[in-house]
This record gives sequence, C-alpha cells and structure tokens, in this order.
Amino acid sequence: MRVALIGAGRMGLFHGQTLAQRLPGVTLVTVADPAATGLPPALGPARLVASADEVLDDPSVDAVVIAAPAPLHADLVVAAASAGKAVFCEKPASLTLDDLDRVIDATAAAGVVLQVGFNRRFDPGWRAARALIDDGTVGTPRLLRSMTRDPGGFDPSRVPPCTIFLETLIHDFDTLRFLNPGARAVSVFAVADALVEPAWADRGLLDTAVVTVRFSNGAIGVAEACFEAAYGYDVRGEVLGSGGMVTTGDGRATTMTFAGSAGRVVDTARGDQALFGSAYVAELAAFTTSVREKTPAVVTGPDARAALEIALAARESARTGQPVPL
Ligand SMILES: NC(=O)c1ccc[n+]([C@@H]2O[C@H](COP(=O)([O-])OP(=O)(O)OC[C@H]3O[C@@H](n4cnc5c(N)ncnc54)[C@H](O)[C@@H]3O)[C@@H](O)[C@H]2O)c1
Repeated sequence: MRVALIGAGRMGLFHGQTLAQRLPGVTLVTVADPAATGLPPALGPARLVASADEVLDDPSVDAVVIAAPAPLHADLVVAAASAGKAVFCEKPASLTLDDLDRVIDATAAAGVVLQVGFNRRFDPGWRAARALIDDGTVGTPRLLRSMTRDPGGFDPSRVPPCTIFLETLIHDFDTLRFLNPGARAVSVFAVADALVEPAWADRGLLDTAVVTVRFSNGAIGVAEACFEAAYGYDVRGEVLGSGGMVTTGDGRATTMTFAGSAGRVVDTARGDQALFGSAYVAELAAFTTSVREKTPAVVTGPDARAALEIALAARESARTGQPVPL
C-alpha cells in the first residue's frame, strides 16, 4: 500500500516513521509540507513536496495520513476523498460541525475509509478497560473520568483560543464515549481558566479545565485537562459501575520502581509519544488494515462528530457559565 503524509511536524514525523518503518506492506511514498526543507533519514526514501495537491494528483497514492494544523483538516480530507484516497486524519477532524458534516459526506460519497486519530482507543490499558465494560464486569456505568495533563513548556502566544476543548479534551470526550458505549452526551457544563499562565487570561487563554458530561444512560462523566504537570504527561481513565471500578493509565513511562532512602520513585512519561507510542502505531496499523481489507474504520467520522459536539458545547458553557444541552 502506497501512503502519503500531509503535514510533517511533531505528530506527522512520528506517523511518517511508522509508515516508513513499522508497518509491513506499507510504503511511505510522499510527504507534503510547505515548511519542510528536508526529511529525516527515519522517513526513508520518501519524496518531499510543498503542496498536498501534488499528493492528491498522484494516482499511485492509495491513502493519506493528515497531520497538518487542525484548521486545514476539513478541506484536506474533502480534497483527498474527492481524489479517491483513503484518509487517516489527526484529531480534531474539523473545528466546526458543518465542516465535519462535509468531511463525513465527502468520504461517504467517495466510498473511502476515514479514520480519525483518537489514539487512546488503541492503547492496551484502555482496550482492556473497555473489554470489562463490554463483558458486563463493570456493570452499569455511573461515574466516568478521563484526564489529560500535558508536560507544560507551551508558548501561550501560539495557543489558539479554546485549544483546550477542541484539541486536548477532545480526546477525553472521545474516551468518555468509548468507556460508556451506546450512550449519548445530553448536557455539558465546563469551568476553565488560565491557571498556568494567568497573565494570558485576559487574552482568552484557557490552560486548565474541568467538564462535566451527562449521558443518556444517566452516567455522569468528568473530563479534565491542564497544560502543565510538573511530572510529565499523564493520561488516565476510570469507570465506576454497578459491578465495580476499572481504571487505566498511571502516567508511568516504564514499569521500573526505584526504592531508596527517600522512598519509592517511578519513571513518568514526559510526552505523548513516550506514553502512547504503541497506540499511535496501532491506530495506523488498524487504518491500513481497513484500507487493505475494505473493512469499516475503527474510529469513524460520526465518532469525531460526537466528540466535537461535546467540545463545542464545553466551549460555549465555559463562555456563558451555563450548562449546554445537546
Ligand atoms: N493524537 C495525538 O495525541 C496528537 C498529538 C499531537 C498532535 N496531534 C494533532 O496533529 C496535528 C498536527 O499537530 P503537530 O503537533 O504535529 O503540529 P506541528 O505544528 O508540529 O506540525 C504541523 C505541520 O503541518 C505543516 N503544514 C502547515 N500547512 C500545511 C499544508 N497546507 N499542507 C501540509 N502541511 C502543512 C506545518 O508546516 C507543520 O510542519 C494537529 O491536528 C494536532 O491536534 C495529535
């Protein structure tokens, strides 16, 4: 399978390396990025071009992986689908529901696979938690929790307003749905502030947020995020049901524990690729398998839409201070 990468920044380079090296039968043929001046050796002999158009005009490309900035996603997916390419698109697949509907319609009309980058669904811990929900062990979900703490070091001038809802917590909105299968979000309430960079509060920065999501089966979910945790990158999930509680994620980079005079010390992950490296590979493995075997994507456009709906409601709730019904 011949795959092209659109957007070779921090996330794109990881995906590019996966396509070039980690998936048997997959070849990374082209990388499109207007700012790139060269490609690292880890991306193999792939050709670098400046524009996505050059990828989409190439009939030998079967599929594209889009890791360009979020505001470009909708138009890139629509163009790729119209050119007959299967599409893996990083989250968020779009920033508005109208754009996401265009994306869903275009990929359906073209009959191409669309998978969205909700990588946590591919992490062994989250999958194991979901398996206990599916087989009834956890029972009826009552309380759900999903949490993202970034390692910090961000430049507040480069964080568009509401990134915390649309790009960070969108993962948590998806995992709340993943851990409460079949239920719909019915109302959303959000509280958010700039607690890491308070000097930027009056310019609209939100770097810390808690969002309560009520679901159609009565379960109550809480998603929380903060752009700085002194100890690294920490993502966790939890479901308390009638049969017990399941938790996943402890922020550890390895299973090593050092016991010394100061107590016990564990290794914490310092970034997303350290914590979720295998999940990022697994999601592209699932995507290329769907394309090859002509099977439905594991994470779909409607999944992206459901998470975006919650994210947009959270943004609105944080602005108004009121709960937002869906
Ligand atoms: N799933 C995850 O855990 C995860 C983690 C990080 C980023 N992401 C997502 O990946 C996407 C990219 O994030 P990033 O951190 O790599 O950003 P980045 O800024 O590091 O990289 C974006 C790249 O896209 C390139 N680009 C800009 N315009 C382009 C165009 N028209 N065509 C092709 N390339 C173009 C830029 O030159 C840059 O190299 C975002 O949607 C982000 O939310 C997901």
